Amino acid sequence: MSVHSSLLLRALTVAGVLAAFLLPTTSADASAPLRTHAAARGKFIGAALATSPLSNENSYRTIAATEFNQVTAENAMKWDSTEPSQGQFNFSGADAIVNFATQNDMQVHGHTLVWHNQTPGWVQNLGASAMRTAMQNHISQVVGRYADNPAVVSWDVVNEAFEDNGNYRTSFWYNTLGQGYIADAFRAARAADPDARLCINDYNTEGINAKSTAIYNLVSSLRQQGVPVDCVGFQTHLAIQYGFPNDFQQNLERFAALGVQVRITELDVRMQMPRSSSKDATQATYYRNVVNACMAVTACAGVTIWGFTDKYSWVPDTFSGQGAALIYDENYQQKPSYTAVHDALAGGSSSDTTPPSTPGTPSASNVTSNSAQLSWTASTDTGGSGLAGYNVYREQGSNDQLLGQSSTNSITLTGLSASTQYQVYVRARDGAGNLSSNSSTGSFTTTEGNGGPGPGGTCTATPTVQTQWNGGYVVQPVTVTNTGSSGITGWTVTFTLPSGHTLVGSWNAAVTVSGQTVTAKNAAYNGTLAPNASTSFGFQVSRPNGNTQTPSGYTCA
Ligand code: XIL
Repeated sequence: MSVHSSLLLRALTVAGVLAAFLLPTTSADASAPLRTHAAARGKFIGAALATSPLSNENSYRTIAATEFNQVTAENAMKWDSTEPSQGQFNFSGADAIVNFATQNDMQVHGHTLVWHNQTPGWVQNLGASAMRTAMQNHISQVVGRYADNPAVVSWDVVNEAFEDNGNYRTSFWYNTLGQGYIADAFRAARAADPDARLCINDYNTEGINAKSTAIYNLVSSLRQQGVPVDCVGFQTHLAIQYGFPNDFQQNLERFAALGVQVRITELDVRMQMPRSSSKDATQATYYRNVVNACMAVTACAGVTIWGFTDKYSWVPDTFSGQGAALIYDENYQQKPSYTAVHDALAGGSSSDTTPPSTPGTPSASNVTSNSAQLSWTASTDTGGSGLAGYNVYREQGSNDQLLGQSSTNSITLTGLSASTQYQVYVRARDGAGNLSSNSSTGSFTTTEGNGGPGPGGTCTATPTVQTQWNGGYVVQPVTVTNTGSSGITGWTVTFTLPSGHTLVGSWNAAVTVSGQTVTAKNAAYNGTLAPNASTSFGFQVSRPNGNTQTPSGYTCA
């Protein structure tokens, strides 16, 4: 190797090492737009677009074309736009959307053919036979117009056909034509474009509930009858004050198992105004969870956001006092929800290296022998990926145990040991996986389990692990309290040593060991306890290296 090439090699190595240190979380395309990441995952990321800003605002057009590879017309393909009076079709708005999509290599989802809203009065007033004919003609004309256009790939054929309780919505369609209008609409759409994916779409169907189950059953039965339903759309108009549907992915999976495509069709996440950084962070978490759910389900084609800028959103007009539901603010600035969508599409890689703020000290309530509720002051996250939740740990020396995870600032712990002191702390997680510092430690002691009160009265034994090291620990004090209403003259505490642990000493009690069960009886001088009086004893145990367990199952009699 020449001096020259070895120097070059060294320079390259140094550059590589430096790059590895300086850019640990930034991959080459980390700043790529949403559509680049979505396409790499084989999914679409889309936005509903409105015709007026599309023709009037450069920023609107630029972001729409740069960030999204799918478009839904927010209103322009609805019946009142396309056929305001019978037989008079107007495709100006619809064509503007389709042309924009074609120019920018985006796919179009047609929305929507048969709906109870934004449908002119002339349709609603028809008799059954005329209404069926009008429906078939409308579908044939609208779907037919774009049947040969490769940009238009799918349609919402029937929208919002169900009530939240799972009954058919008693719309003019249902009231005039009966439930058969749904199958008829799908057949007409298939006839108009044999290649388009035909969807049924609804809201409040993200979780497994009466409404989503009604749609599930209908889709299953229609497909068995050969009715061409290819796809189910989940509108996903969420609100941070109502909680996230945690069974969303599971719900998508059960529909996928019917053989249909699933898609998120109208995603937005509203909040009570005014905005705050903590609401933005929660909102970002919802967006991230939705995108992740779609990414995790092969049959999920992609996610359409219902708009992209808070400047144009249906939310403030529809839900009083609520807003800020989208991923750009009114000034076209990206919000934390944008970063959340971006990072979820990018597969978890993240430019967010800022951990959330430290949560408050957990405080316990409703403590039983095997459960306890903890709550703490919430964290905030400013790094962009949004607060994802909290990890709750039990402090036990070198190897603290993760007791549970929560998406909110409280948790109910179950499966705890009776009569055991738990020292617990909390760390917040953000969407990029950054963990906050540990909160301060809170402490609670579970109540006694099955041991129950002895005949001499009622007592409790509450242990404290005073100190522990790799090979052992000291439990002191074990506080013995007479909780009965009369005095006692002796007590017996039992507890269980984890397997492999051996008692090496004890004080202030007469201790015997049988197997792993330890029995500690009062010494001569500390057996007499008046009501509410306490005494204590202690013991030392050795345990295998690396083992972090401590005794459990304390009883007092
Ligand atoms: C909304 C539009 O966003 C508004 O501009 C319009 O005034 C009313 O309709 N479910 C749907 C969408 O399927 O078509 C609705 O869009 C939102 C709820």
